[in-house]
Amino acid sequence: MNQSVTALAHPNIALIKYWGNRDHKLRLPSNGSISMNLAALETRSTVMFLPDLRADELILNGKPQKGAALSRVKDFMEVIRNSSGICGYAHIVSHNNFPASAGLASSASAFAALAVAGAAACGLDYSEKQLSRLARRGSGSAARSIPGGFVEWLGAPTDEGSYAFSIALADHWELWDCVALVSQTTKQTGSTEGHLLANTSMLQPARVSDAPRRLDLCRSAILHQDFAALAELIELDSHMLHAVMLTSRPSLLYWEPSSVSVMKAIASWRRQGIEAAFTLDAGPNVHVICTAAHAQIVTQKLKDIPGVAEVLASPVGEGARIIRRSEISNTI
Ligand code: PMV
Repeated sequence: MNQSVTALAHPNIALIKYWGNRDHKLRLPSNGSISMNLAALETRSTVMFLPDLRADELILNGKPQKGAALSRVKDFMEVIRNSSGICGYAHIVSHNNFPASAGLASSASAFAALAVAGAAACGLDYSEKQLSRLARRGSGSAARSIPGGFVEWLGAPTDEGSYAFSIALADHWELWDCVALVSQTTKQTGSTEGHLLANTSMLQPARVSDAPRRLDLCRSAILHQDFAALAELIELDSHMLHAVMLTSRPSLLYWEPSSVSVMKAIASWRRQGIEAAFTLDAGPNVHVICTAAHAQIVTQKLKDIPGVAEVLASPVGEGARIIRRSEISNTI
C-alpha cells in the first residue's frame, strides 16, 4: 500500500536575512539567519507516489505546472528518492491560501510542506532537523519553515550542520507581520538568481562577517521581548541586505517608490510610540513587524499610504506538520 500524505507549512519572514550561498547546489548559506513563521499564510501539499507515473507531476493552485517550476520540484523529489531508494514518481497537489500575484515568496512554505509530505509518503521517518536539512535543498529559507515560532538557521559549512531550530515557540511573544503589498511595475530577479550575485558586491563580506553579532542581538531581543532593540536591528539588517543587492553587478533594486513611503512612515510612527519596524526581502513589499497591541492601527495606517494595494496581517505561526495521511491502493 502506498500512502497519500498532506502537510501544511507557513512561510516565514527573516528578521536577520540570508543572502548568498557557500554552496549553491546544497544551498548552504553564507550566513546564519533568524525568522518567524507567519500563521495566517499557508501552503498545503499532498504527495502520492504512484507506480504508473513516468515522471513527477505538480498541480499548483489547480493548474498543472511545467517548465522551471516543475523542474525545480523534480530536482527536489530526486533528493527524496535518493535518500529513500525505493520511491517512484510522485503526483503532487499544492495550494497556497495567498494570491500568487501578491509577490510574497511562497518557496519557503512550498518546499517545507513538500519535504514533510514527500518524506512521509516515501516512508522516511525524519526528525525535525533532517526535515529542515531536506527542505533547505528546495529553497534555503524553507529550512526555517520546518520548526515552529521564532527560528534560527545555522550558517554552518556542511550539509549536516546547516539546519534550523526553534529559539522560541510561537506563543512566546505576540508579534505580528503586517505585510504592505506594494504594486509592482517590473519583474523582480528571483532569489535563486539573486544569491548568485551576492559575492559581486564589495559589501557582502562586511555583511557576512558582522552576521554573528546581529544574530546574537536578535536572539537576545526575541528572548527578552525587547521591541526597541529588535526594531533597530531588523531595519539595519534589511538595509545591509539591500545595500548588497544595490551594489552587486548587475545591481538589484527591489524597492518601489511606495516601499520607501512606507519605510519613512514607520520611522515617524515609531517616534509617536507605535511599536512597528520594517524589513524587506527580494521584492518591494514591506513587512511591518509590530506588537499585537499595535497590529490593528498599523494595518489601518498602512492602507492609507498611496501605492499600498493591500495589507496581509499575520501572527507568529507553528512549524510544518502532517495534517492527513491515507492509504492508496497500488492499482490506482
Ligand atoms: O530561500 P530563498 O532562496 O528564497 O532566499 C530568501 C532570501 C531572502 O528572503 C531575501 C532573505 C531570507 O533570509 O529569507
